[in-house]
This record gives sequence, structure tokens and C-alpha cells, in this order.
Amino acid sequence: MSNLQFLAGNEDDTDYLGRAIAQLLQAGDVVTLNGELGAGKTRLVRGIVASLSDDDQLVNSPTFVLIQQYAAAMPIYHMDAYRLTDEDEFLSLGAEELLQGDGVCLIEWADRISGVLPSDHVRIDIVSIRENARQFQVSGFGSRSNQIVNQLRLLLTADA
Ligand SMILES: Nc1ncnc2c1ncn2[C@@H]1O[C@H](COP(=O)(O)OP(=O)(O)OP(=O)(O)O)[C@@H](O)[C@H]1O
Ligand SMILES: [Mg+2]
Repeated sequence: MSNLQFLAGNEDDTDYLGRAIAQLLQAGDVVTLNGELGAGKTRLVRGIVASLSDDDQLVNSPTFVLIQQYAAAMPIYHMDAYRLTDEDEFLSLGAEELLQGDGVCLIEWADRISGVLPSDHVRIDIVSIRENARQFQVSGFGSRSNQIVNQLRLLLTADA
């Protein structure tokens, strides 16, 4: 497993991380976002979407709609497992097809549906450090995701 730490001192740093991740994503990639309420999962998604899409799209936690789709260079499926009762409910939304599909999947609260995640996925854990500071841990599970994390490390260090 490949993993890296990124400390965001403010929201601009979080955006920067989102944009770096976005550069590396391809159709079929799955990224899970884990962390408490208000950790910054949606905020990071906003950075990723802004980077892949020309127009300013409204990005909110898809807590009630469960799956939000954004038009971008490739479809972005933004999912939220917070209110799901179980993994079957997730599958009943047609999620399986999306997970192997034509776009990128970004899943908040993915630990709640860990049994149906593809074995190859990038896991992002976010911890709130101070009011505006967040610690991100990015881990790769599987060969494709390890490649993403290794490329991300290069991108972030090249810029530092
Ligand atoms: N460096 C930072 N990175 C991300 N968010 C930050 C940062 N500093 C402050 N924030 C604030 O923290 C909050 C993060 O909210 P966000 O909706 O992204 O959380 P979430 O993890 O998606 O929560 P939920 O589980 O409720 O969906 C926002 O109000 C954002 O402005
Ligand atoms: Mg959210």
C-alpha cells in the first residue's frame, strides 16, 4: 500500500490537493472520502470537480440525493453513504454499474459500504486539526490506486 500525508493549512490548500488529484484521475477510478461531519470531504470534491469541469458547478454533500452527477471531462459521480441503511440499498441505486463505469466515483462515508467497494480504490482520510487546517492521508489499495498515490506524491513534491 502506498500512502502520503498532506497538511492543508487552509481551504486553498485543500483546493490545491483536489486539483492535483483531479489531474491523475481516469474513468473507472474510485476515491473514498472518510472523516467526521465537517471534515472537508465535500470541500475536497469541490476542488476536484472545479479542476475537471469548465463551468462552476454547485457541489454539496449528496446526503439526500445519494448520488450526484457532474458533467466534466468525464462523468463524476459523487456519492454519500451517510444515510444508507446497508450495502444493498447502495447497490439498489445502481451504484455497481457506476463503480465500474465510464466516470470517476467520489464516495463520502464509504466505510459504511466497505463490503461493496472495488478492491482497487484510493482512500482519503481527513482529520480536522484546527479551524481551517486539515490533515489528509491518501492511501492506495490495488495497483492502479497505488500508481495514483505515487504520481500524486511526485506532483506535490515537485511543487513544494
Ligand atoms: N482546509 C480546509 N479544508 C476543507 N474544509 C475546510 C478547511 N478549512 C475550513 N474548512 C471548512 O470545513 C467545512 C468542511 O465541510 P464539508 O461539507 O466539506 O465537510 P464534509 O466532510 O463533507 O461533511 P459531511 O459529512 O457533513 O458531508 C466547510 O465549512 C469548510 O469551509
Ligand atoms: Mg459532505
